[in-house]
Amino acid sequence: MSFWETLPETLFWIAFVAVIIFIMFIFELKWRVNGGFHRNDCRQIKTQLNGKTVIITGGNTGIGKETAIDLARRGARVIIGCRNAKKAEEGVKEIQRRSGSSNVVYRHLELSDQESVRKFADVVLKEEPNIYCLVNNAGIGKAAKGHRTKEGYNMVFAVNHFGPFLLTMLLLDRLKASSPSRIINVTSVAHTWIKTGEILVGSNEEAGAQTTVYCAIEESIKNLSGRYFDNCQLARETKLARDPALAKKLWEVSCQATGLDDSFS
Ligand SMILES: NC(=O)c1ccc[n+]([C@@H]2O[C@H](COP(=O)([O-])OP(=O)(O)OC[C@H]3O[C@@H](n4cnc5c(N)ncnc54)[C@H](OP(=O)(O)O)[C@@H]3O)[C@@H](O)[C@H]2O)c1
Repeated sequence: MSFWETLPETLFWIAFVAVIIFIMFIFELKWRVNGGFHRNDCRQIKTQLNGKTVIITGGNTGIGKETAIDLARRGARVIIGCRNAKKAEEGVKEIQRRSGSSNVVYRHLELSDQESVRKFADVVLKEEPNIYCLVNNAGIGKAAKGHRTKEGYNMVFAVNHFGPFLLTMLLLDRLKASSPSRIINVTSVAHTWIKTGEILVGSNEEAGAQTTVYCAIEESIKNLSGRYFDNCQLARETKLARDPALAKKLWEVSCQATGLDDSFS
């Protein structure tokens, strides 16, 4: 048979294999975004947070907003720390409407700007006699190439680490005084990759917020300080995250970059 005679059949098989690969790709993405075959969920946990204040950075959208809605429904006073006033006010309205709680407010916070972090902490310390929980949720996956902060730091590292580090340290005494209290650092193993998945399979932010909510409300984990959780359960940190020498170095660099004394605790 000549090449031209076999071409339609060859094209058919190429298209067939391409469709199968595409379907497998979509299933794989959906599986990963949903946290594997079994995604845990903490909606059945009945903990109430009446009279407790929770601070959520980046609470105007995504996982932060869903976390805010859940904790506000449980009676917490929720403060969302956000960089964009208009988006923050829209976020507050939605959180209030969906949670049925009016005890939700926005305070300005730009994590890439250490002055802004200090101002936010001052406002919160002035206004809130008790802080039950700080959720360091805000984060970015990338920034424009070469984009640096006022202090000259890499933008992604400043927003994802130096800003939350400084905020945590500034609020630490109040958190300790409000004990039992919690600090939750939201992280992402393959954030950028999973984001691509979300675009294809639709938003799954409520499910994405479950582990954060779990860490904020689950009674049985109150003594598991410093541990890593995934899919509403204790999980193993990466090898790098378990390296004490690296942790010490990061602590020193973070104190230096944020102007804190490294004996700060
Ligand atoms: N999406 C996922 O699949 C996934 C998976 C695992 C973990 N995570 C982690 O979960 C957290 C939230 O993810 P998400 O998907 O909900 O993200 P998102 O929708 O992109 O929301 C990020 C939030 O951070 C805020 N933010 C960014 N830069 C900031 C800055 N310089 N100062 C103050 N706020 C800033 C954003 O504010 P604007 O609205 O003003 O931009 C927004 O409120 C992130 O830490 C992420 O790494 C995400």
